[in-house]
Amino acid sequence: MSKKIVQSINNGLKGHIQVPGDKSISHRAVMFGAIAKGKTTIEGFLSGEDCLSTISCFKKLGVSIEQSGDRVTVDGRGWDGLSEPTEILNVGNSGTTTRLMLGILATRPFHSVVIGDDSIAKRPMSRVTDPLKAMGAEIDGRENGNYTPLSIRGGQTKGISFTSKVASAQVKSAILLAGLQSEGVTTVTEPALSRDHTERMLEAYGVKVIRDGLTVSVEGSQSLKANHIIVPGDISSAAFFLVAAAIVPNSQVTLTGVGMNPTRSGIIDVLREMGASLTVTNEKVVGGEPIADLAIETSQLRGVEISGEIIPRLIDEIPVIAVLATQANGKTVIKDAEELKVKETNRIDTVVSELTKLGAQVEATEDGMIIHGSQKLTGGEVDSYGDHRIGMAMAVAGLISEGEVLIKRSEAISVSYPTFFEDIMKLTL
Ligand code: S3P
Repeated sequence: MSKKIVQSINNGLKGHIQVPGDKSISHRAVMFGAIAKGKTTIEGFLSGEDCLSTISCFKKLGVSIEQSGDRVTVDGRGWDGLSEPTEILNVGNSGTTTRLMLGILATRPFHSVVIGDDSIAKRPMSRVTDPLKAMGAEIDGRENGNYTPLSIRGGQTKGISFTSKVASAQVKSAILLAGLQSEGVTTVTEPALSRDHTERMLEAYGVKVIRDGLTVSVEGSQSLKANHIIVPGDISSAAFFLVAAAIVPNSQVTLTGVGMNPTRSGIIDVLREMGASLTVTNEKVVGGEPIADLAIETSQLRGVEISGEIIPRLIDEIPVIAVLATQANGKTVIKDAEELKVKETNRIDTVVSELTKLGAQVEATEDGMIIHGSQKLTGGEVDSYGDHRIGMAMAVAGLISEGEVLIKRSEAISVSYPTFFEDIMKLTL
């Protein structure tokens, strides 16, 4: 268990950085490359632990994958190129690896066992295993296939028309991936639009995807063709610096090449609504995903309400938005975010408990939290509880706290951002 001490910054954060590659897109680039025919090359791959878990699982499934820093080559041999693994598939801390891989395995005629860490063991899997079972896959695990360890034997599956109770890209993606090798058409409808990287990237890999509002369909018997993927910077990683620059006095920071997919950019809308001085330049589309440079400086902020359809567009940013809200004048109310309870930790509980330790005035509600600002943070000892985004949110809080912030289990940060503290240092030189 490692500990990290973060102190307040006196002279502001200044300069520019390029945040690492998008985690969701890096996972998909490897998985889709593994089931495609031919050599897929990936640039800007996120070398975080989660995406390395994806590489390790697909290697165990017989796929040849080479990685050198942020460049990855996947030698796909098509769907039938996957083979029965002799070892357990360990997903580590990664929910995306677990759920999307289950969707792929659902149509493979062999047996696999999937496990992960303590956090994965608590995360609900029946949201994907139930529909995959309904399509014809054999899946078992604790509580009838809701929790890891899971065993799966895929086979000939039938298309499904599935209406998801939750707006979840992992659920949508798992079912669509199984649909690609099922009989007939598979359709997924969600209550609000979750991130659409799967839909965009499948098209880039030559798959026909039909989209109609909140509904996506694919026909069965579809194969993928190898591709060259350029991974944009992760807006969820950029979020820590956007917030830090907005609240650390005398800051002026530019983040280059950040993914601006509208299903992910809720943090930009919130920063603007709170009054942050933020400019978006150099907008372009790379490999089917919009990117831009983001410049932000220290700003006077006001509290806002965050609820409804924007929630899936910023769900991973809520821990750091809570830190932002401690520095905004007035009340910030976050609603409709019960999904926070089933992330790497229960993020309603962990955000509220850890920010409270630092002197913030924040209360948990059934589906979110209320943050009262603006409030000077005192500093103190906090825990990431093994959740990368809690660790980084606390580090950002440390940059404006009166005393030091000691973060326990800070090693969790390398799940999505191994160079996080180095990038903060770059902005203090
Ligand atoms: C992800 C989807 C989101 C997000 C997670 C990554 C993905 O979860 O919170 O960090 O890569 O598909 P949902 O499945 O709840 O949308």
